[in-house]
Amino acid sequence: MRQIFHPGADAILRLTIFGAMAAVAGFFVLVGGIPNSLYATGVGQAPHQTPPFSHKHHAGELGIDCRYCHTTVTTQATAGIPPTHVCMTCHSQIWNKAPMLAPVRDSLADDVPLRWVRVNRLPDYVYFNHAIHVRKGIGCSSCHGAVTHMQLTWPAENFTMAFCLACHRHPESRLREPDAVWNMEWKPGSDQAALGRRLMAEYHIASAARLSDCSICHR
Ligand code: HEC
Ligand code: HEC
Ligand code: HEC
Ligand code: HEC
Ligand code: HEC
Repeated sequence: MRQIFHPGADAILRLTIFGAMAAVAGFFVLVGGIPNSLYATGVGQAPHQTPPFSHKHHAGELGIDCRYCHTTVTTQATAGIPPTHVCMTCHSQIWNKAPMLAPVRDSLADDVPLRWVRVNRLPDYVYFNHAIHVRKGIGCSSCHGAVTHMQLTWPAENFTMAFCLACHRHPESRLREPDAVWNMEWKPGSDQAALGRRLMAEYHIASAARLSDCSICHR
């Protein structure tokens, strides 16, 4: 007698789990709906920042590598926001009297971190990891848009479940060679089908079925 539960029990159990997940998620949706002053924008809208840091200027025109400031993006779940002394490697010399940079100098002098308004945020019940994506050929611009053109930083995407799943079901259509991860202008070329097939094998990417499993993002 190995079959203790009748065949329908499995389906009922699944429905119960699904219902419980939806209820939990519903709760967070409600709580998340309360405006958070540190996260207050929609797609395409840049929040005001102090000082008005420009990716267009620093990453675009000056060509500073993303990893110079977002030091953990290839190794950890979070990309990391640069501490003040990173800004001061240049701004103790360049523009070191500019009123616009007073908050940076004050931050260093008072040893109080700069306070940036958060641009992108997932609900707490979703697990995300930068290193996994960046090391497997998914470029920043696939999720953040062409950051090098942004004067102030805005969210390029609504991080809905559908957005994540659209790629997890067909990662081959978005895979890039390792160095193209840093190319903010990247678009899939006419050879993407062949390139994607080759890179799926080279990066050892899991099947679409596994990448769509609920427990990948809801742990
Ligand atoms: C000189 C330092 C510096 C460089 C270089 C830099 N960034 Fe940033 N980045 C920042 C700072 C400071 C912030 C916080 C202020 C803001 O949101 O603009 C930030 C914020 C971001 C955010 C939004 C974070 C959030 O709140 O959700 C993204 C996305 C981002 N950077 C991507 C990039 C990419 C992609 C590159 C390379 C093309 C890059 N950055 C290069 C300093 C830098
Ligand atoms: C590699 C050198 C370098 C680093 C690192 C750097 N900056 Fe700059 N920054 C510059 C230069 C060069 C200018 C432009 C001066 C000019 O316009 O001639 C500038 C200009 C600025 C301006 C004036 C507005 C603008 O974009 O023209 C702000 C604000 C600023 N930086 C903030 C920051 C902050 C905040 C950080 C740290 C997160 C930072 N910078 C890191 C080199 C740097
Ligand atoms: C697959 C989508 C995806 C890719 C690719 C991606 N990001 Fe992100 N990024 C996100 C999401 C989602 C968040 C919000 C995470 C959260 O709230 O937990 C985020 C947040 C950030 C943040 C702010 C919070 C933090 O993690 O410290 C920075 C900075 C950032 N990304 C930079 C980058 C850079 C630089 C690259 C490329 C090297 C990159 N991202 C590639 C989806 C992505
Ligand atoms: C443009 C494509 C793309 C987008 C968009 C994307 N992912 Fe991924 N994701 C991947 C690839 C490729 C992998 C690596 C799969 C592997 O290693 O087998 C991955 C892996 C992951 C993993 C780790 C899976 C594991 O093996 O444990 C998590 C968690 C994850 N993604 C969450 C998210 C979330 C949450 C979002 C939406 C905010 C998202 N992803 C958006 C392509 C994408
Ligand atoms: C690739 C990542 C990923 C996978 C796989 C995934 N989810 Fe999600 N899920 C998300 C993200 C991101 C959100 C947040 C959406 C938002 O804020 O709009 C979310 C939100 C939810 C919510 C909250 C309600 C809603 O739609 O806003 C429920 C319930 C949910 N997921 C259930 C599931 C179930 C069940 C599965 C498996 C069939 C699953 N998820 C697989 C990323 C994922």
